[in-house]
Amino acid sequence: MAKTAGVALVTGASRGIGPFIARSLAEAGYSLVLTGRSASELEVLADDLRAKGTTAVALPRDLTVAEDVEALVRTAEREVGRVDVLVNNAGGDPQREFDDMTWAENDAIFQLNLIAPMRLTHLLLPGMLERGRGHIVNISSIAGRVGFPYTEAYAAAKDGLMGFTRVLRNDYRSRGVSASVVVLGAIRDAGQGQRTADQLGMKMPAMGTSPAKDVGKAVVAAIEKDRAEIVVMPGPGRLIKALMDLFPSMGPAMNQATGANATMRSVIEFRRRSPG
Ligand SMILES: NC(=O)c1ccc[n+]([C@@H]2O[C@H](COP(=O)([O-])OP(=O)(O)OC[C@H]3O[C@@H](n4cnc5c(N)ncnc54)[C@H](OP(=O)(O)O)[C@@H]3O)[C@@H](O)[C@H]2O)c1
Repeated sequence: MAKTAGVALVTGASRGIGPFIARSLAEAGYSLVLTGRSASELEVLADDLRAKGTTAVALPRDLTVAEDVEALVRTAEREVGRVDVLVNNAGGDPQREFDDMTWAENDAIFQLNLIAPMRLTHLLLPGMLERGRGHIVNISSIAGRVGFPYTEAYAAAKDGLMGFTRVLRNDYRSRGVSASVVVLGAIRDAGQGQRTADQLGMKMPAMGTSPAKDVGKAVVAAIEKDRAEIVVMPGPGRLIKALMDLFPSMGPAMNQATGANATMRSVIEFRRRSPG
């Protein structure tokens, strides 16, 4: 029999880290609404979750289109029920230089990584407040804190997501709706970093990276323990993040020392030759 922790809507569930988050939430007893643009990938995941006894529906939508986001919420609530947990995981970066991208391309990064999570939250929050129950988990990145190369718009959006989460949590927690940010370092086994390494024929090192399954666990912990922030990085992640703020030259020095600058230069050149 299906367990009933509530209904969770997971964005970016079609590939990468999203399916790991969906599976962890299913194991924690949530019914799932899975979204992304790729219908067939979403259906495969939904089928697999249903086979294991979880209620799951796939609702393919483009989160950068306002009407799609509104339709997503209406259809999710009609087909599965009121959404208790929103995981804003969809995101990513085209790995190109700021000045080489048009303004529209930079804007698209913002729409996906910051505006869509805020819009979805804005649509779901009234229902959560009415029921006095809800949790929003935003998936952010350490990119801005470490000054990761060629991520100007992406880093700004992801840092914006941290600020948004912090104020949202402060404003609504006393009314039963909480918010957490899960800040990711480099993730292996799935997702954009692993895909890029595979495309370039590079090995994703185990040292300095975290497995994608850890992100699923972090999302469940953020909800169940109502944590303001979880940093998914090897070692003392939150301390490392705090040190980056205290010593702003530390991240760029690390990027140089670890070879991240040189690697990202290769990635930028690769994207110039074969965008996508
Ligand atoms: N991988 C890492 O090392 C890493 C590090 C730090 C932070 N993060 C963050 O973790 C999250 C997941 O990243 P990932 O590595 O799993 O990325 P990914 O493999 O590229 O997957 C991105 C997901 O977002 C969806 N998406 C992209 N554009 C969309 C749009 N316009 N409308 C709706 N859905 C869209 C994609 O689905 P469709 O293509 O089907 O639309 C896909 O499911 C992101 O927020 C990312 O910034 C990742």
